Amino acid sequence: PRAGSVAQALLDWYDTHARSLPWRMPPGANRADPYRVWLSEVMLQQTTVAAVIPYFERFTTRWADVAALAAAPEDEVMAAWAGLGYYSRARRLVECARVVAARGGFPEDEAGLRALPGLGAYTAAAVAAIAFGQRAVVVDANVERVVARLFDIEQPLPAARAAIREAADAITPDVRSGDFAQAMMDLGAGICSVRAPQCLICPLRSDCRGQVRAEQLPVKPPKKA
Ligand code: ADE
Repeated sequence: PRAGSVAQALLDWYDTHARSLPWRMPPGANRADPYRVWLSEVMLQQTTVAAVIPYFERFTTRWADVAALAAAPEDEVMAAWAGLGYYSRARRLVECARVVAARGGFPEDEAGLRALPGLGAYTAAAVAAIAFGQRAVVVDANVERVVARLFDIEQPLPAARAAIREAADAITPDVRSGDFAQAMMDLGAGICSVRAPQCLICPLRSDCRGQVRAEQLPVKPPKKA
């Protein structure tokens, strides 16, 4: 697939089809509140968008910014988190909020974000791109699936990850990289779904090499004997 045409087609699609989500800005804004982006990305790890929304709304009503969350007693945050699961995420959330509040705000680049407690490579890239408009290669499971299909990457996971990452890098534009990342997520969640990909209405169909075997991609890791 040609890098420029994939990005252009996807961003054009996003302009009219972006999901409206409480942590997002409208397409083209190129910036979003880093606190809200970070909080949503932590909540969205291992939890669906639908399940996260009410928690996100409650958290941001109660703790409107990172300083407010940093000042919250840990047990109150843990209680508000109840039901989301993976409670170590909540503990690290408070720890991270305290570090960020103490330094006066979030770092704006991927490396600085990655150094914060609890921020993995994915979250650092997502916040750099979505909140700060920085070019970053943002690859979650949805994006992995879209890219494996787009480039018809037949190698099984997890070995395919290097090739998927390289291909994702090649199609990530220098501008609107946050919109691009979220467009890939929306495409993966809605159109390029795990079991029933809607290739006929996909904005990337003319660039996609994997359509004939989309349901088989990405190839799952071999079963252990
Ligand atoms: N899943 C993880 N991050 C997301 C985002 N920013 N938008 C939609 N789905 C997501």
